[in-house]
Amino acid sequence: MSNGFDFDRVIERRNTDSLKWHKYEGRDVIPLWVADMDFQAPQAILEALHRRVEHGVFGYAVPPEELTQVLVERMAEKYRWVIKPSWIVWLPGVVSALNVVCRAFGDDGDEVLTFRPIYPPFLSAPPLSRRSVKTIPLGRKGGSYVMDADRFEQEITARSRILLLCNPHNPVGRRFERRELERIAEVCLAHDIILCSDEIHCDLVLDGGPHTPAATLGPEISARTITLMAPSKTFNIPGLSCSFAIIENPDLRRRFNKTHSGIVPWINALGYAACLAAYRDCEPWRQALIDYLRGNEQLAYRFINEEIPGLAMDHVQATYLAWIDTRPLGLANPERFFELGGVGLSDGKDFLAEGFVRLNFGCPRATLLVGLERIKHAVANLRTT
Ligand SMILES: Cc1ncc(COP(=O)(O)O)c(C=O)c1O
Repeated sequence: MSNGFDFDRVIERRNTDSLKWHKYEGRDVIPLWVADMDFQAPQAILEALHRRVEHGVFGYAVPPEELTQVLVERMAEKYRWVIKPSWIVWLPGVVSALNVVCRAFGDDGDEVLTFRPIYPPFLSAPPLSRRSVKTIPLGRKGGSYVMDADRFEQEITARSRILLLCNPHNPVGRRFERRELERIAEVCLAHDIILCSDEIHCDLVLDGGPHTPAATLGPEISARTITLMAPSKTFNIPGLSCSFAIIENPDLRRRFNKTHSGIVPWINALGYAACLAAYRDCEPWRQALIDYLRGNEQLAYRFINEEIPGLAMDHVQATYLAWIDTRPLGLANPERFFELGGVGLSDGKDFLAEGFVRLNFGCPRATLLVGLERIKHAVANLRTT
């Protein structure tokens, strides 16, 4: 039990049409890959959904007024970010929004930049919109990943239009500091780059530091920023498809809306109900979740770095995703290797980082421990064969 919430409870997810668990149906593989957690959503969300289902009429929905209010207050309280209701654009998914952004701004053949390694939809969205993608490697400084603003600036050409930023960062787990973001924002301003800041993991900060929304750095950068957020990762409701963009600049907003109109569907009634309950009623649950995830992060960090020679990970500042370097083991196919060892991980090559794997520790500690033991066992066998 963590502050009255039971994150240790193991819930059977096999045969529940779960993407995460279905992948290994019929096989003894613990899925620690795609980013959803094995916890039940908070009770207040379950009750809100029950109430909505009891009503029994599922027509087209509009955003509840209270939700807009809650969101405006949330941004003010958490980030001293004063937003207007009109800046909010509701969307069924952040990946949709990444694609809409790529399509809305610039012309065919223009460039979209992003830092790598990166969550794969950042790489697929530009070409799907006939844009090219240019990736800039994250650097290493003081034992952690950093954005190199000089390198970003050097890579900008006359065709560069958009920077897709991921903060907190999937997969490396960084919560970028204000000064790092300021340097990136300066470069965007100097070169007329639109900043699309995916902040879906902003409520999953584990290291106690602040999350800084890029749009809060100043009015000039706010005027060229599209911020993407959602309750989906934090409250474990990604299957309910409710997320939002915050776009201050009315021209950018108009272009964005025009591009998705008629293609991207509206939010459904259950998504709104869950989102409202999440943001209005579930802060104690979120705090307890953060405590629990911190414990899992510490376990994974110690286990990977101390008990498994050949593997290494950094501390995770935010997200429930550990980014593990397997390169010293020289594995030809790390994903397959660990699957054969009974653990399903995400393959680094999909994030443009061969030799890395991503481990999702958003699960009961007992499940994580079995997963880590299996990883240890697989690596130990490699050494003895
Ligand atoms: C950075 C990032 N953006 C977007 C998503 C997915 O968002 P959605 O399910 O709303 O499309 C994820 C899911 O893991 C993510 O990590």
